Formats: sequence, C-alpha cells, structure tokens
Amino acid sequence: MRLTLATLLAASALTACAGDAPGGDETNVVTVYSARHYDGDKAMFDAFEADTGITVQLRESRAPQLLETLKAEGASSPADVIIASDVGALWQFEEAGLTQASTSDALTAAIPDTLRDPDGHWYGLAKRFRVIAYDPERLSPDQVATYDALADPALEGEVCARSSSNIYNLSLLSSKIVEDGEDAASAWAQGVSNNLARPPQGGDTAQIEAVAAGECSAAIANHYYWVRLAASNADDRREIAEATALSFPDQDAGGAHVNITGAAVTASAPNAENAIALIEWLATSKGQELLVAETKEYPIVEGVPLPAGLETLPDFTASEISLDALGPLQGDAQKLYTAAGWD
Ligand code: FE2
Repeated sequence: MRLTLATLLAASALTACAGDAPGGDETNVVTVYSARHYDGDKAMFDAFEADTGITVQLRESRAPQLLETLKAEGASSPADVIIASDVGALWQFEEAGLTQASTSDALTAAIPDTLRDPDGHWYGLAKRFRVIAYDPERLSPDQVATYDALADPALEGEVCARSSSNIYNLSLLSSKIVEDGEDAASAWAQGVSNNLARPPQGGDTAQIEAVAAGECSAAIANHYYWVRLAASNADDRREIAEATALSFPDQDAGGAHVNITGAAVTASAPNAENAIALIEWLATSKGQELLVAETKEYPIVEGVPLPAGLETLPDFTASEISLDALGPLQGDAQKLYTAAGWD
C-alpha cells in the first residue's frame, strides 16, 4: 500500500510539473495580468494558445490592485503583459516604471499612431467612446450634440454622472484640456457640476438607468454599456436601452472622445518575446474579433468586422487627439473637478 501511495504521489507531482510547462519548455508561457473580467477572454486566450503553442497564465484583478501587485513584486514579478482599459490606467503603469518600450512592425502598421504610445510602452487594441445617453422624449438631438451642451444652464438639474475620480471621467476632462485649454476645461467641469441632477454615484450603466427612470435626461457613459443593454436577453434591460438614445458628441468639432483597451509589456517580463507575440496576435483579425465580441468595443484594426450590436449605432467621427497626452493630465483634471464640486 505504501509503495503504491508513493508511486501515486510521484506520478501526480510529475503531472503537475508537466501542466505548468507543457512540453517541458519553461519559457513557452506568457503571464498576463488583466484588468478585464469577461468570460469571453478565456476563449480568446485558448485560441491564442492553439495558434501559437504559448501557454497563457492569467491573473485577473482590478487595475489599481494589479498596479499595487506589480509594484510589490518588483523585478521578480512573473507578469509579462498588462491588459487594462482606459489609457489613463495604462499610463499609471508606465508612470510607475512598470512597463518597457517595445517595437513591433506589425503593431506599428496595424494600430493608428494616436492610439499607441510613441515609445511603445502601450498599444491600443480596442476602441471605446465616451458618449451621451439621453431621453429622446425630453431632449432633442441638438441639445446633446456636444459635450459642452452638458454644461449649458439649459440642462440645469438634468445631467447624471459618476464620480469624477473614475478614470473614464479623468481621461475625458484631460482630452478637454488638450483640445480647448485648462480654462475651458475648468468652465466645463463647473457647468456640468452645476447641472447634476443628483450627487455622482454608480457606474456608467447606472447613469443610463437613471435617464430611463426619469431622474435625469442626459448622462455620460461609455458606448458599450448602452449596447450591452440593447443586446440583452432580459426584457427589463432592453427596455432601458429602448427608453434612451445615444449621442456621439462633437461631430462638427473634434469628434467623439475615444479611449482604448490596451496592452503593455512589463518592465520585468521574463518572456518579453511571448508578450509581444500575444499583443501582435490580439491585433490580428481573429484576436480582434475575440477581444471585442463580448465587450462591444470597436476593433482598432481596419477591416475587422464589428461585434454584434454595434451595427445599430450610427457612423460617427472620432477624436484624433493623441492619447499619450492624456495620462499626464490626470492630476490636473482631478483638481478641476474637485474645484467644481464634482465629487
Ligand atoms: Fe468599462
């Protein structure tokens, strides 16, 4: 009996080793720290493994937690790739010295230069737009055609927004600083703050729900939250989308605020080549389709089919400002919001 048990234990130990490094090649892995949390990402990484033979080791957590983890792990971190949403989040990793510059002809060719770091510290892989959800029975499209309209006294008590410290809102105001200057950005934050129907609360979906419930008639939200409601199997979720409409703002000036989900190679990556291989694969047609199928973001690479649900949205013009300008303005943006009383 004891011999048998020892044999079993030895066998299971061998199995565990083989499972950690298929084929016995310990370098053929890529460790991903991802701030995303979608079931569809499992299928995406499975497809990458099947295409390349590189095994993905995945750790999912919120971006601030991943940032703290990477700082604590330092040079001994197993992480090779960081995947996070919003350029403001990616910039925080770069600013902390946790990313490395990398070069890739494939990525340079596939990704517009405004949507990746000029030094290769991060690469945009999908696009998201910060737009206005509104009640079409209470407001005309003209009344929500620009971001500035949200700051117009005509909408006093009519606007819902989430906390100003949310990275999406910080990046939105950072882009306003870049496009219109700090004085205009300050006036906009004050105007929207004056128009708030209620203290900032909840996430983006909660803002759209508040419009549908009549608490406010316009709200700031990323486009995909509305698309997910519209594509929901649940009647009560679809009804929220049906009671609201989306405005892609600033079509005559500047274009709608664009942001990214993107990836970075960590400064201490044990498998930097595999890290680039993964990011390049995510910029292929197959990778792009799997990356946005569930999130309802827009593919970043030209010619990739849109995920189901986006075909119902109108064609629109996107802002072409360079996203690498936004991260360093986060602190300024927060000061302007706080001064405006937008919590
Ligand atoms: Fe989001």
